[in-house]
Amino acid sequence: MKIGIFDSGVGGLSVLKKIKEKINFADIIYYGDSLNAPYGSKNIKDIQQLCLKIGEFLIDNRVDVIVIACNTATAAALDVLKERFTSVPVIGVITPGASMAIKQSKNKKIGVLSTPLTANTKIYEKVITDLNPKYQVYQKGCELLCPMIERGWESSEKNKELLKQYISALPTDIDTLVLGCTHYPLIRGDIESLFGKKIVDPAEETAMSVLFELNKISLKTGRKKSRKQKINIDYFVTGDIEKFKSVGEKFLGEEVVNVYQPITES
Ligand code: DGL
Repeated sequence: MKIGIFDSGVGGLSVLKKIKEKINFADIIYYGDSLNAPYGSKNIKDIQQLCLKIGEFLIDNRVDVIVIACNTATAAALDVLKERFTSVPVIGVITPGASMAIKQSKNKKIGVLSTPLTANTKIYEKVITDLNPKYQVYQKGCELLCPMIERGWESSEKNKELLKQYISALPTDIDTLVLGCTHYPLIRGDIESLFGKKIVDPAEETAMSVLFELNKISLKTGRKKSRKQKINIDYFVTGDIEKFKSVGEKFLGEEVVNVYQPITES
């Protein structure tokens, strides 16, 4: 079996990491569209076009499931991708993140840090209050974070000050903070040092959804889930490959090999 994962760059590696921890019988194709990052400052139509192109690439590479490892792309294009690619399940990160946040929060006040686009759509508020209207959700768009993480985040006082400004834009009585951009788990340590309460990384529950879908496919088709000695991961990166490798290796704690530039028409 094969899992297709994509993001606007390195952020989706936070989802890949959790998937690797939970699923040992499927290979992975990872697509990082760093040439077009950040998605969070683009408009919805453009993001949908980019996501459709990536979806086609993944389907051409015979994946069994598509994971939109990006909150912004999930907010902008989950429905469009589900409609276009009906032969495989398409999984986003927002519903898994929202249900985790509901389980974690005791006082029903949840904060979400995300890209400006995700914050503007108020999608976390919609999904969470659809699940349970008693919750209050506050979203803050953090325009500068994704590009800084793509370039390689420094854990400096200056950068922590910026994080502090974003976090302090949320009410002080929230008891749960959702990392509503898949890039943010890469700087989780710094966020944790400033927000001492519960932090939710939607990647965890997203990986469970992927496992669930693959189990369903296996039951339906009789395909075996044979444990692999080593999972093969091919990375396709539209932007700077060396930058992707260095940021990715630092986060994953392992060598990132098999990195290619996808062939795309101009
Ligand atoms: N990792 C993406 C997300 O979860 C970042 C989007 C961007 O490129 O701005 O939203």
